[in-house]
Amino acid sequence: MSRLSLVPRVKYLLARARRIDVASVVERAKEASEQHGKAVPAVVVDMLWSAARRNVGFQDYIDYDFAMLTREERSTFMTHPVSNELSQKYDHPDYRGIFQDKIEFDKRFSTFLNREWMIVDEGNADEVRAFTERQGTIVTKEPIGVAGLGVHRYHAADVTDWDEFHAGLLSRGEFLIEEVIRQHEDLAAVCPGTVNTTRITAFFDGEKAHILAMAQKFGRGEVSDQMSFGGFYTMLDENGRAKSAGYDSHGHVYEKHPDTDFPIAEFQLPHMEKVRAFIDDIARVVPQVQYVGWDIVVSPDGPVLVEGNWGCGVYENKPSVSGIRTGHKPRYQEVIGF
Ligand SMILES: Nc1ncnc2c1ncn2[C@@H]1O[C@H](COP(=O)(O)OP(=O)(O)O)[C@@H](O)[C@H]1O
Ligand SMILES: [Mg+2]
Repeated sequence: MSRLSLVPRVKYLLARARRIDVASVVERAKEASEQHGKAVPAVVVDMLWSAARRNVGFQDYIDYDFAMLTREERSTFMTHPVSNELSQKYDHPDYRGIFQDKIEFDKRFSTFLNREWMIVDEGNADEVRAFTERQGTIVTKEPIGVAGLGVHRYHAADVTDWDEFHAGLLSRGEFLIEEVIRQHEDLAAVCPGTVNTTRITAFFDGEKAHILAMAQKFGRGEVSDQMSFGGFYTMLDENGRAKSAGYDSHGHVYEKHPDTDFPIAEFQLPHMEKVRAFIDDIARVVPQVQYVGWDIVVSPDGPVLVEGNWGCGVYENKPSVSGIRTGHKPRYQEVIGF
């Protein structure tokens, strides 16, 4: 990545080197060794080499089945270190806070949320009660990043003491309350108990937003569709059609959704035309943050925004599940020019 500055890259590698957890590398190498029939030491060496010389994270190596790919095939996959370089270069530090803090985000992007939301503060127990009783069910969020675990769900019917409920939200840092998003019936058909988001990674070049990759996440009935709540994903093609069965980072493969038996590879995201226009609209709100992983939900009428992630992760094809042995990096390179 010659056009990306060396300094952030070196910093990132150093930070990572310090964090290398040998046991976890060996653990992952064992998984890859079993799945792809290669000797553990050879996989360990390959993982370390790939990390040092090819900007491939250990989890990338496992998730995208690098053990079964040729060097040429590997070079087509986006990886977390490369994505991190793009974020550092194209997401202006002065504007990252809007994305980092879910309250700041809802304020700035309010017209794209299509739902009610409110802030919890000292002394507004009555408002919290009124909001929750009107909604019936609410989603609460800890505004600042807690690795996919800061989202909660409550039902008004379960609350007996509203002062205690309010105090609990404050003490746990659940300062943001949102109305539950209503998803399109085609998404509910796969998993009705969770709002299933579409992760759209896009780049705004100053004039136009370009979609780089799309992943459809599916939950398991919990409040969140994140992997930390048992969720999984599949990649979508540019027309919103699933490319394969689903998978997660823990070695699970989902031909069908376990709760509804919906065949994941047959999923089609509705309203794709509106989704493209929506991405172009939201990308203009904070043009200084150009490289973003948008979480959106297709509702009955079209897309609504959940959040935008600066410094976003990577969602890629999984060769052992999809049979697709190439990734999205050429698309990123064509759009961003690196
Ligand atoms: N208002 C909402 N209504 C229903 N589900 C929601 C709502 N907001 C978030 N979710 C669910 O929780 C998940 C995580 O929410 P998000 O705001 O993206 O936080 P994070 O990804 O940082 O954990 C979403 O992908 C979605 O499944
Ligand atoms: Mg999210």
